Amino acid sequence: MAKNRVICTTNEIDYLSIRKAMSSGARTKEELVELAGVCTECEGCKSELDGILSSVCGCKGVSLEAVVNAVKNGADTVDKVGEVTGAGTGVNEETGEPCGKCKILIQNIIDLGR
Ligand code: FES
Repeated sequence: MAKNRVICTTNEIDYLSIRKAMSSGARTKEELVELAGVCTECEGCKSELDGILSSVCGCKGVSLEAVVNAVKNGADTVDKVGEVTGAGTGVNEETGEPCGKCKILIQNIIDLGR
């Protein structure tokens, strides 16, 4: 699981703030400007936003595209998305506890269908 760090150095927006905005529906850079306050112009934004936006579950390496496809193919709960893609089924390597940090984002993708 990625540790928190500043991504947008211009506006000092960190990784977790960006993930939170995604969990509230942001799927594009323009929506991240609105919901997280990133600038999209600094080196951090240019080099990292696309990768962050395209990933849902860091533990299992599951992309947004894979989750959206699973939802379009009928996975209508977080558990069903996990069965199909593996997203949300990661385990914290240090504690051995289930991770599940991406489950709020998965639910948002189910809710919005995108
Ligand atoms: S990010 Fe850990 S289970 Fe998805």
